[in-house]
Amino acid sequence: MGNESKTRRLLEDAARRGIAYRETCAGRSVAPKPDAVAAVGRFVEALPVEGKDDEDVLAMLDEIGSPASIAMAGPRFFGFVIGGSLPVTLATNWLSSAWDQNVVMHEVTPATATLEQVALSWLVELFDLPPETGAGFVTGATVANFTALAAARHRVFADAGWNVESVGLIGAPPVTLIVSDEAHPTLFKSLGMLGLGRDRVVRIPTDRQGRMIAAELPAAEGPTIVCTQAGNINSGAIDPIGEICDAVEGSGAWVHVDGAFGMWAAASKALRSMTDGMQRADSWATDAHKWLNVPYDSGIAFVRNAADLASAMAITADYLITETEHRNPSDYTPELSRRGRGIDVWAALRSLGRNGVEKLIDGCCAHARRFAAGLSAAGFEVLNDVVLNQVVVSFGDDAKTREVIGAIQSDGTCWCGVTVWQGKTAMRISVSSWATTGEDVEKSLRAMIDTARRLGARSV
Ligand SMILES: Cc1ncc(COP(=O)(O)O)c(C=O)c1O
Repeated sequence: MGNESKTRRLLEDAARRGIAYRETCAGRSVAPKPDAVAAVGRFVEALPVEGKDDEDVLAMLDEIGSPASIAMAGPRFFGFVIGGSLPVTLATNWLSSAWDQNVVMHEVTPATATLEQVALSWLVELFDLPPETGAGFVTGATVANFTALAAARHRVFADAGWNVESVGLIGAPPVTLIVSDEAHPTLFKSLGMLGLGRDRVVRIPTDRQGRMIAAELPAAEGPTIVCTQAGNINSGAIDPIGEICDAVEGSGAWVHVDGAFGMWAAASKALRSMTDGMQRADSWATDAHKWLNVPYDSGIAFVRNAADLASAMAITADYLITETEHRNPSDYTPELSRRGRGIDVWAALRSLGRNGVEKLIDGCCAHARRFAAGLSAAGFEVLNDVVLNQVVVSFGDDAKTREVIGAIQSDGTCWCGVTVWQGKTAMRISVSSWATTGEDVEKSLRAMIDTARRLGARSV
């Protein structure tokens, strides 16, 4: 058999297996069964001296890997904040993987670079960010925070007469970092990776929903970066970003928004007021693999002044075609080489349109409210104001709540994780997938309530 027909057979086999996986996702246990998990041990083998047949390699991946995967792509996965890729984005992901483009330079990959530029301009419009905003596609909100804060670091040091990209941080003037007490741990990690320190921060207290209290901000003096948050990982609450911008107005402080998922509230007329003032910030980080439901991995860093982002990220070399009239994708990202993540974002936005994104966001929030109402009616304590797509619920004391969560996970109807919220162990329900229907919510509610009652849980 020629190479051509072997490749065709292999890719058709992969497509057939992928389609079968997606078609069975809604009907299977969300958590993999223990025997399937045990079977992953079969992957652990010595490096083969001679290569194996390609069809066998694929078959092994499917036969062992597929049953051992958790059904994140299905409609009843409510763990962490994880969307399930929209079919069109999976399709464009498959096709663009076939292209195998390295999106470094516009001149070399014009189609990919143009698609990314279009996707970025649509996002800027969707979030109502300043039209001059620059941006880059990265792996997720962690790296989006890192990238945007690298631009912030550039600007605040440049304003203090210090070229941080050139001479680094040793001997640099001090910078004040203002961070919410409820900032996501990856925000602190980003600050650490930038050499600004995870702990050298001024922490601002938050209210009962995890929102930064703007009145507690110190007067911003000298080089200052203020990190706000749109979407608390537990409650979904959004910081009062407008009030925070008011508090530092005129000080020259850089305001950043970690909007991994909460930023998407700006795409909904019903929710938009929660993000009031967000557009006044200097930089923003968000994920597309969460609420836009594109395949992993996909995040975006936005910076109002594109030149600050390029100053932190752009490089040049004799062998690279960086002299161009076009936007060079790698001028705005930490990576030089990377895949065309923006293609799936373009596909999601083109397929959904502005109205479809709004419907997706509003739909997830409506499902979250139904979860909260159903659990409250059954006598369990919902610990947060359900303002977005997040519900935090207690099934009694910490031990009982953990026991119930474990039993819900192994029941397999749905999957939710554990957290600690305001000192109380709780279950987090995050509704982030396009695939979740009202029926999925009712089915999951029944499983949660039946499991909790069977274990004798009651609210305290
Ligand atoms: C507010 C916030 N920031 C950052 C992150 C990190 O995102 P990622 O895992 O996509 O890097 C998350 C993840 O849930 C988040 O909720």
